[in-house]
Amino acid sequence: MGRLTGKVAIITGAASGMGLAGAQLFAKEGAKVVATDVVEGALQERVNEIVANGGEAIALKLDVSSPESWKAVVDATISKYGKIDILVNNAGIHIAKGILEAELDDWEKVMSINSTGVWLGMKSVIPHMQKNGQGSIVNTASIAAIIGGISDGHGAAYSASKGAVRALTKHAAQWFAKDQIRVNSVHPGAIFTGMVEKAGIKSQVEMGTHYKNLAPLSPHAGESMDIANAYLYLASDESKFVTGIELTVDGGWISN
Ligand SMILES: NC(=O)c1ccc[n+]([C@@H]2O[C@H](COP(=O)([O-])OP(=O)(O)OC[C@H]3O[C@@H](n4cnc5c(N)ncnc54)[C@H](O)[C@@H]3O)[C@@H](O)[C@H]2O)c1
Repeated sequence: MGRLTGKVAIITGAASGMGLAGAQLFAKEGAKVVATDVVEGALQERVNEIVANGGEAIALKLDVSSPESWKAVVDATISKYGKIDILVNNAGIHIAKGILEAELDDWEKVMSINSTGVWLGMKSVIPHMQKNGQGSIVNTASIAAIIGGISDGHGAAYSASKGAVRALTKHAAQWFAKDQIRVNSVHPGAIFTGMVEKAGIKSQVEMGTHYKNLAPLSPHAGESMDIANAYLYLASDESKFVTGIELTVDGGWISN
């Protein structure tokens, strides 16, 4: 018996990085995984691998900033599996521009995916969790929602968007506890993923060299599976008395 046997889980941003690791781990633990991403080809390939390894998963295109796109994914999930137990709002983007460099377009793009996307996901899925009598929502924020400095990679909108995720998580945790819906946020520190590779860093160890004085645990940068394990704990019934928390996975960075 897996830790998620019988559960239906929607994961956003599942073509790469933490979302992909989450989809792989959830399938291994017995969940029926609805893996979603705005990128279709790579997502389908990764889902084919999960299925080839004996997991239950489907790939669906989702732009988290679009209400219509959410409706299509939720309708397809309900028609295939009949319920939604878990939502992992993992998709996110980063633009490395500070307050003075960012233009309105940059700001709005980051906010629409990182913050509005999380709200739309909860708005679309919660009514089905209410019908189901329970649910677990995991929202991906960042330590940039808690501290400043280089934790936000010089992204002003990024910091603000993740701060919104942190606050919205606590709002939802309070308002939907009556429905047995738990809502928690995960706050990664420096984690080697596709997002980081796009910025030119080639390995977890190389990434760690930049954070030696900040994250005391070696190798000073994490990997996607470190975050997927946090998703798994919060998604599973092992955390059934846990809601509204912010789980940092950062090698000790914010304890500095
Ligand atoms: N990597 C880090 O160090 C780090 C640190 C803190 C927080 N985070 C957060 O972790 C989450 C996962 O990031 P990652 O590092 O795995 O990045 P990643 O780039 O490897 O994966 C993000 C995925 O989101 C998808 N995506 C982008 N825009 C989308 C949209 N509009 N709709 C649906 N999907 C979309 C991308 O296609 C991609 O597959 C993000 O929310 C990110 O902000 C990352």
